[in-house]
Amino acid sequence: MNDSSEYLDRILLDAYSIGSIIRSLAAQIKLDYKDRQDDLIVISVLKGAYFFTADLQRALSPELDPVVEFIQLSSYGAGSKSSGELKFKKELEDVNISGKDLLVVEDIVDTGLTISKLREYLLEKGAKSVRICVFLDKSEARMVEVKLDYVGSKIPSEFVVGYGLDYNEQYRNLPYIGVLKKEIYS
Ligand code: IMP
Repeated sequence: MNDSSEYLDRILLDAYSIGSIIRSLAAQIKLDYKDRQDDLIVISVLKGAYFFTADLQRALSPELDPVVEFIQLSSYGAGSKSSGELKFKKELEDVNISGKDLLVVEDIVDTGLTISKLREYLLEKGAKSVRICVFLDKSEARMVEVKLDYVGSKIPSEFVVGYGLDYNEQYRNLPYIGVLKKEIYS
């Protein structure tokens, strides 16, 4: 995986841009939660959001030091299309979210099906509030309306990898976001 031109069309966000997006999101979140951080739980959606969550958590510190919990949903698997069904690989087993303010940290919103179902699920489990913080927003591909409270960057409707985002478990470790060549996933 040395020559990125073999699998990437182009780089959309380099490491420097990613850093400034993180700082700007953290500044907004710190302001919004400064007086109610006791009830705040960050819910990180594995696996795609783990780089993003780690960077965001460090950027929130020391002013905000929320508990971070993880859930894992089934990914697209070998394909690149959303099924719209919420299937857990890892649930919030022993975490009591009742009466808590949740900040869901997600890598990317495409059709919006996953995040809107997850939001419903968390509210049904008794969360006081659910806000969504997403690194990338492919808003052109939206099939359901969903309120995204914090958006890192809007991007075109193309399949992207890197910074935690994968295709078939590959390319997560790239330190930037790149557009995957169509011939690789079609
Ligand atoms: P949605 O339900 O269509 O909004 O899909 C959201 C999920 O699909 C994300 O959490 C990702 O796991 C995955 N996904 C959507 N677009 C991409 C992409 O461009 N690259 C990698 N994963 C993606």
